[in-house]
Amino acid sequence: MTPVFLWFLVAAPVLLGAGSPVHDSNNGTTPLVIWHGMGDNCCNPLSMGAIKKMIEEEISGIYVLSLMIGKNVIQDTENGFFMDVNDQVSMVCAQLAQDPKLKGGYNAMGFSQGAQFLRAVAQRCPTPPMKTLISVGGQHQGVYGLPRCPGESSELCDMIRKALNSGAYSALVQKHLVQAQYWHDPLNDDLYKKYSLFLADINQERVVNETYKKNLQLLEKFVMVKFLKDTVVDPVDSEWFGFLKTGQAKETETLQESVLYKEDRLGLAAMDKAGKLVFLASDGDHLQFTREWFTANLLPYLR
Ligand SMILES: *[C@@H]1O[C@H](CO)[C@@H](O)[C@H](O)[C@H]1NC(C)=O
Ligand SMILES: *[C@@H]1O[C@H](CO)[C@@H](O)[C@H](O)[C@H]1NC(C)=O
Repeated sequence: MTPVFLWFLVAAPVLLGAGSPVHDSNNGTTPLVIWHGMGDNCCNPLSMGAIKKMIEEEISGIYVLSLMIGKNVIQDTENGFFMDVNDQVSMVCAQLAQDPKLKGGYNAMGFSQGAQFLRAVAQRCPTPPMKTLISVGGQHQGVYGLPRCPGESSELCDMIRKALNSGAYSALVQKHLVQAQYWHDPLNDDLYKKYSLFLADINQERVVNETYKKNLQLLEKFVMVKFLKDTVVDPVDSEWFGFLKTGQAKETETLQESVLYKEDRLGLAAMDKAGKLVFLASDGDHLQFTREWFTANLLPYLR
């Protein structure tokens, strides 16, 4: 008896200590995983690269992983248009699970489409645990329109627009066009529910997957930023999980007015009641904000 007891006394501090190297390697900070938006990549010095650098300057010792989907930045950019989103999410889940720095959990920040993709990670892959999800201009109810494309991808965008108009829910377009996978046509609600490979699944349009509901509620906070002068996302309500009312393309409804919320198919109503949903507004166009705005409004969730 005694040796066992002593062993416990001696081992206890060691066991306690064993937990801390992971923590120490992150310098007492919570790691951050970033997923870029359409037409962008992990490392562009003018976008994600600059954000990563800024956060590293503001939070000393933080580990920031800006996701690269593919082997290099060119593939990463292309995959943002053409790689099956469900495959992208699986790839990211595998990468996060293998990263020793993320073992104790991490915060996540998605930009534009990267935000709804990270929400899928939260719903499908609870290990390692995502703590806070920040959606910066994400389209949680998808889009119905592609008014303007960011950056230098305008020719590509014309092509994509044509494909979406010709049949966003055809198997071929769904499989090969990322934007079709979160295309939400309120005039063809039945087609959307039936054939949308990605968004209709994570938004519980076909069935209520209890695992998704449970996992999303594990988040400490789900912060959604809407850009009040957004000219890229249509309708902009999608950035706060609202959308066009079904059957027409003019009137919108808020998250709280939606069936998704009223039936609480995804746990969002429960999260709202628990004070886990945060709705932020930023005055600019899509993804346009100043360092001051970022520091004042988003940084507190990353500390
Ligand atoms: C962690 O903090 C120490 C002391 O503040 C610093 O020297 C070290 O570079 C930091 N580690 C990382 C990964 O930033
Ligand atoms: C629910 O989601 C989990 C996690 O992604 C998945 O393994 C399971 O197959 C899903 N169930 C249904 C009914 O779609």
